[in-house]
Amino acid sequence: MTSKAIRDDAKVLVTGGCGFIGSNFVRFALENRPGWSIINLDCLSYSGNLENLTDIEDDPRYEFVKGDIRNMEDVEPLVKRCDAVIHFAAESHVDRSILDAGPFITSNVQGTQVMLDAVRRVKSDGGKAPVFFFVGTDEVYGSLPLDQPELMFTEETPIQPRGVYSASKAGADLLVQAYHETFGLDTRTTRCSNNFGPYQFPEKVIPLFVTNLIEGQQVPLYGDGLNVRDWLHVDDHCEAIIAVLEKGAAGSIYNVGGNNERTNLELTHLIIELMGKGKDMIRHVEDRLGHDRRYAIDPTRLKGEIGWQPTRSAWPEALEETVKWYVDHPDWWKRVKSGAYREYYEKQYAGR
Ligand code: NAD
Ligand code: DAU
Repeated sequence: MTSKAIRDDAKVLVTGGCGFIGSNFVRFALENRPGWSIINLDCLSYSGNLENLTDIEDDPRYEFVKGDIRNMEDVEPLVKRCDAVIHFAAESHVDRSILDAGPFITSNVQGTQVMLDAVRRVKSDGGKAPVFFFVGTDEVYGSLPLDQPELMFTEETPIQPRGVYSASKAGADLLVQAYHETFGLDTRTTRCSNNFGPYQFPEKVIPLFVTNLIEGQQVPLYGDGLNVRDWLHVDDHCEAIIAVLEKGAAGSIYNVGGNNERTNLELTHLIIELMGKGKDMIRHVEDRLGHDRRYAIDPTRLKGEIGWQPTRSAWPEALEETVKWYVDHPDWWKRVKSGAYREYYEKQYAGR
């Protein structure tokens, strides 16, 4: 373990800070690291929503920049100004990657390459290159069978993605490791399991199912519903990122997970129960193509070396709190579902 890698008054560049995890991270970091200032670079793709951060948008420690990680002109001036880059920006939805691979390759692979090259340029120009933090996913390890519950992904598990989204994230992840080995960049990588919490775009299973039920619609459960995911509260993920940034070594890789495996059927039943609805609200639909059967993360390294523990992810309480957030924030998700959230940029930033 190294000494603290970044200063208490660090300038941190967050990419994708208008998405689900990025926006929760910006809020979490401003609250828990009062000395930090944060630049948020986001192109406001369909899942980027400025309304996720209205509560902190006037904080003098926060700056939003509309730009694309695929454009060096957007990226380089910001990278030069910061001590750390936390790279969330990506196309993140598996079902969309099945419909159209293109944006996943350009944003996830090429975008990460541009980010890494910008950091590399600072280093080769003799400046102090920022730490590059890659927010990766457990999906890069592929899929586990249901009949061997003892199997889990460790950091030594070979990378074996099975889908377009996971292959694009694996490409980015491997590039990060390559830039550390080849150019000596100070990189950190986490590979995290499924997150839940507020401000998640309602195409992912939890907000989709909760908001459908509020609207009196059935929930579309893929296949037999026995696929397993490991669920972690987004704030536990944010805490892990800060811990690895501050305490991890250059080039380190950590799995992040909640030891909270659930079948989709179990998840669906719990959501239905929390919403006071009946099982007749489940609509069994055709399975996702190439649907990974089970993800299971072993976070032993993170717990042992960094001392991180999830403290907000225990079910059913944590899921109930998240369900309640969507029930209590209809204005937020109705604007997202209707597309009205896209007007906010013009209203807030026109002429700036
Ligand atoms: P999200 O789709 O909610 O947010 C992605 C954000 O990135 C959006 O604000 C979008 O506008 C921005 N973005 C996309 N392409 C961009 C580009 N070319 N230039 C600039 N900005 C761009 O996704 P999320 O669920 O918050 O995931 C964030 C990161 O965490 C992703 O890298 C994802 O792979 C990873 N991750 C997610 C989970 C999960 O459960 N959601 C788990 C593990 C890892
Ligand atoms: O494991 C981490 C990954 O988790 C992240 O890297 C991804 O960015 C994130 O989107 C998530 O991927 P999943 O495919 O696991 O998430 P999603 O919410 O799309 O689906 C969760 C499970 O629910 C999955 O097994 C498919 C199922 N599902 C999903 C939807 C949207 C359904 O049964 N019906 C649905 O309508």
